[in-house]
Amino acid sequence: MKQPIIDIQNLRKTYTYYKKPPGLLGSLKSLFHREKLLTEAVKEVNFSIEQGEFVGFLGPNGAGKTTTLKMLSGILYPTSGKVNVLGFTPWDRKPEFQKQFSLVMGQKNQLWWDLPAMETFLLNQTIYEIPEKVFRASLKELSELLEIQDILTIPVRKLSLGQRMKCELAAALLHQPKVLFLDEPTIGLDVTSQQNIRTFLKKYNEQKKTTILLTSHYMDDIMELCKRVIIVNLGRIVYDGSLQELIDKHADYKLLKITFTQEMKRNDLKKYGKVSEFAPKRAVLHVAKAQYKKIAAHILEELPVDDIFIDEVSVEEVIRDIFAVTKTGTV
Ligand SMILES: Nc1ncnc2c1ncn2[C@@H]1O[C@H](COP(=O)(O)OP(=O)(O)OP(=O)(O)O)[C@@H](O)[C@H]1O
Ligand SMILES: [Mg+2]
Repeated sequence: MKQPIIDIQNLRKTYTYYKKPPGLLGSLKSLFHREKLLTEAVKEVNFSIEQGEFVGFLGPNGAGKTTTLKMLSGILYPTSGKVNVLGFTPWDRKPEFQKQFSLVMGQKNQLWWDLPAMETFLLNQTIYEIPEKVFRASLKELSELLEIQDILTIPVRKLSLGQRMKCELAAALLHQPKVLFLDEPTIGLDVTSQQNIRTFLKKYNEQKKTTILLTSHYMDDIMELCKRVIIVNLGRIVYDGSLQELIDKHADYKLLKITFTQEMKRNDLKKYGKVSEFAPKRAVLHVAKAQYKKIAAHILEELPVDDIFIDEVSVEEVIRDIFAVTKTGTV
């Protein structure tokens, strides 16, 4: 059997922190007595990933995604559980391990703010002990793919958000890691920059067979890049499998968006399907995929319809539904 490149068993992380009462008196008191608080960020996470896979790691805010990625990168110690990445336990922080993976966080930058990106690249060359020839080849390839040749000598603080993220990615990939953890790499970027980053990641994964685990709140990222998704909620895995199957299973309805020539009552519409939005002259109905044509025909015949529009349910909506359902159990 093929050996997984990432393997996680019963991973848990409970954060311990201390509550500080407000004010100066509170600060003084807390010197002697501090109230201890616990957050169970990751309760039980198990999964494994094979070489070359591009997996989407999804979940609502606070689900435990960043905490998991930090443990996989060895930045955080877990409370308990086992993790094997490329044959290493990440938090042992062995140099041989550090040289084979990268973590990119959209919210944090590793590039030196006041210096051109090229300076950080050179620093990384030293840190990762990248031989000159490999470094030059890697730099050339990445700058071409990311189209950043012309901005490498401009101080990072002067770059646009999109340009900066491209340079962040280049910095993270110069040492040709086998595993790449991406935590919201497209956050806050404009639509075009997001698309550029996606195109790059897709090509890079295809060419290099780098194993990538990606978190993003933008479903376009996930749909374009990941065949497989792992969904976490409240620190537990609630789904691990094909994205397409998940969509098929949960998006088994279509939306009928109707405007009426006169005011309606919500009750008049209930017999046709689930009324998800309602205003007296406008409504959105959820109807089963198998019957939507028949139902639309009935509505046209029986109600004072001004216009009717049949739409697919968006993947965002499907995922939102799943998050809502999975507050209690698995999908
Ligand atoms: N250093 C910390 N100390 C205490 N609690 C923390 C710490 N870091 C995270 N948490 C808590 O752990 C839980 C999981 O946080 P985490 O950042 O892993 O979520 P996430 O899935 O990445 O969310 P988002 O989608 O918003 O980035 C949250 O309840 C968060 O408030
Ligand atoms: Mg996060």
